[in-house]
Amino acid sequence: MATESLLSIRGVSNTYVSHAWGIVGKKIAKPVLDNINIEIAPGEIFGLVGESGCGKTTLGRCILGLIDYRGDILIDGVRQDSRGRACTRREMARRVQAVFQDPAASLNPVKRAGWLLEEPLRVHRLGSKQERLKGVDETLDLVGLDSSYKDRRVNELSVGQKQRICIGCALMLKPKLIIADEAVSALDVSVGAQILNLFRDLHQTLGLGMVFIGHNLNLVYYLCDRIAVMRGGRILEQGTAEEVYSAPKHGYTRELLKAGEGGLT
Ligand SMILES: Nc1ncnc2c1ncn2[C@@H]1O[C@H](COP(=O)(O)OP(=O)(O)O)[C@@H](O)[C@H]1O
Ligand SMILES: [Mg+2]
Repeated sequence: MATESLLSIRGVSNTYVSHAWGIVGKKIAKPVLDNINIEIAPGEIFGLVGESGCGKTTLGRCILGLIDYRGDILIDGVRQDSRGRACTRREMARRVQAVFQDPAASLNPVKRAGWLLEEPLRVHRLGSKQERLKGVDETLDLVGLDSSYKDRRVNELSVGQKQRICIGCALMLKPKLIIADEAVSALDVSVGAQILNLFRDLHQTLGLGMVFIGHNLNLVYYLCDRIAVMRGGRILEQGTAEEVYSAPKHGYTRELLKAGEGGLT
């Protein structure tokens, strides 16, 4: 029997509806995702790649249960659905967490890193104060910062250190799945490479499943086990990283490879 998927995306479609300019009452429906099907095994890093506007973030938001969609998304066999979902947002937060592009926008600049890391545990009422502080120290270690960082305010940190704190916050509830949406795209090449290696280390040490969203296929190839190439809300092709990178089926995939040459972000 096949092992159960960590993440199943089955026939997911999504449409944004906006008001038409100048015509009262008229609405325009814009299809953004069209019949997306993806299965991700436990502990797998899956790359989602495509040019800006193709729907990657929208799919990430569907997985996180932040927006409505048609079709089914299951994490660990449990339906994630912002309408009639089988689990609450709290339960969902313990299964899936996200890391976004701009760490400065994700963190309150005047808070201390330790306070921010402890926050998810406080909100979910997990552990005693002492246990929570131990969790903060362990997580700082996991993201490559020593325990003195818990007393540092966010605005005293470099952008790379901020992103490490964001990743730490995402890890505090010990989710099985992380959605990393362009998580290294705003960082310069050397810092981006360090964060990329951190994701790879976390994948190896924690057996963490990951959806790594990016627009650079070369970078996604470096990190991921399998890759889906998206265009205009559809999946153009998907396969092992090796298949997509070495034997792309579509001209568009070859274009993406060419566009990403030489840069890590
Ligand atoms: N809240 C929204 N309302 C209407 N259209 C949106 C909204 N968010 C994104 N879009 C549109 O949906 C498409 C996909 O966007 P997005 O998922 O952000 O793509 P990507 O992350 O691949 O750059 C784009 O054309 C974008 O303009
Ligand atoms: Mg995006």
